[in-house]
Amino acid sequence: MAKFYTTTAIDYVNGAPHIGHAYEKILTDVIYRHFTQRCEDTYFLTGTDEHGIKIQKTSVEKGISPKDFCDINAQKFKDAWKTLDIGYSQFIRTTDEQHEKVVQKIFKKLVDKGDIYKHSYKGLYCSGCEAFLNEKDLTEDGLCPDHLKKPEVVEEENYFFKLTKYKDAIIKHIKTHPDFIVPAFRANEVLNQLENIEDISVSRVNSNVSWGIPVLGDDSQVIYVWIDALSNYITAIGYDPEGSDGKFEKLWPADVQVIGKDILKFHSIYWPAILMALDLPLPKHILAHGWITIDEAKMSKSLGNVISPTAVLEAFNLDIPDPFRYYMASAAPCGKDGNYSDEDFKEKVNAHLANSMGNLLNRTLSMLVKYFDGDIKQEFLGKNELKEKALETVKAVKHHFDYFEVQEASQKIMELVDFVNKYVTDNAPWTLAKEGKTERCGEVLTNVLQVMTVVASLIYPYCPNIASAMAEQLGYDIKTKLDDITCETLISGHLIDKENIKPVFLRMDSELADKKK
Ligand code: MSP
Repeated sequence: MAKFYTTTAIDYVNGAPHIGHAYEKILTDVIYRHFTQRCEDTYFLTGTDEHGIKIQKTSVEKGISPKDFCDINAQKFKDAWKTLDIGYSQFIRTTDEQHEKVVQKIFKKLVDKGDIYKHSYKGLYCSGCEAFLNEKDLTEDGLCPDHLKKPEVVEEENYFFKLTKYKDAIIKHIKTHPDFIVPAFRANEVLNQLENIEDISVSRVNSNVSWGIPVLGDDSQVIYVWIDALSNYITAIGYDPEGSDGKFEKLWPADVQVIGKDILKFHSIYWPAILMALDLPLPKHILAHGWITIDEAKMSKSLGNVISPTAVLEAFNLDIPDPFRYYMASAAPCGKDGNYSDEDFKEKVNAHLANSMGNLLNRTLSMLVKYFDGDIKQEFLGKNELKEKALETVKAVKHHFDYFEVQEASQKIMELVDFVNKYVTDNAPWTLAKEGKTERCGEVLTNVLQVMTVVASLIYPYCPNIASAMAEQLGYDIKTKLDDITCETLISGHLIDKENIKPVFLRMDSELADKKK
């Protein structure tokens, strides 16, 4: 694979980032880092979605301009992603001048093509979804099922996009590309939604919604959020209807676009239709992840259980985000819902990262130093009984990532770690040393350390800091591509620096964080 382009949903900036937003960014970052270990050119786009009625209303309430309000909150997302080591290549804001200009041109192109037309309309508008809803989608009490709010009746003359024109082509695409929607079980849901689609409103009257991108040549209307928001995936990388730059040609179509299940309809129906109307290829995969609950409850302001990801790191006194990244990335099987709880977080991370993985490395390195002064000798380098299992795991991990099964891949890595721990227990190198079976003792320790270089590489996307510390202690280059891993990195004469050996991750044994915090 030569290039890999991945994106996340762009978050609304009404508030600060929470664990749900963080889950998606971590998942995408893990996928991105894994493919960076396999591809030459990789690119990761994330950002914020800043226009629309909600931002307009909240900024008025706060007595500041919408742009100032967006600036303050967009920075909170950037800061959080920095703390979590989200290694994005680009952060787009829909208020970026370049984005706004290209969205106007996209809109104009679709008007010129006859795919956008003006039409008088009366509909039910949910500001939570920033979308018009159909009567049949509402709850029995007439509320939006996602936001449990009564939609407003809106009567306006708007621009409409001819979604229905692309209905058959989208159905065909989904049916002929069974891996377009990941996980595949969601495709039926989308096919059902496609049965009832109608053309969609893509603008709002300026007097009702002013915080948006004006329609070129029609000041009375602003371009309405979804066409603006979805376009970010191409405007960010240099798409221009009048001539794109080389970066766009190189990166598009995206390899995987990661989003939450709640916005799958927009990404698997509206977005493909817009791309078809622009004569652009569709992304290879849309990965719809599940939702994260807190202590099994839906996160909501009214329940007061909205957790900020940085607050978790602070509460547990963590100076690296790796444990939280690892926990979130393995919180749920691909596409299913997951849960966060303080107790489970602490327990799982202590068990996997500190006890199983960290301790294995630390004990083995310490024994090599104790018995052999840290020296890997020629006579230790025989046939490694662990090599087959290690290389099998690399293959299995790659296979899971081909299907974006991030949790499943992490389980394979931990299976390898458990396997090696059992090997150490079974072979008891401390007994071999005591019994004077020096060469066998050296062999066992070296075999384990060879596998630990593989483990460091495989865990790197989840725990970049811990993996780098592991690699440093092993004296091995973490940047090695996965295809070049042989499980024979440590060669004769390789010396472990004893001054450098320390646990790569300490158990979180501090008292459980005060929930209020
Ligand atoms: N702005 C739109 C997306 C436009 S993409 C062109 C939006 N923003 S959002 O802030 O409401 O959500 C951003 C992402 O976070 C979505 O993919 C959404 O599914 C995800 N999550 C928000 N809450 C979540 C959880 N509780 N759990 C997991 N992800 C959730 O939608």
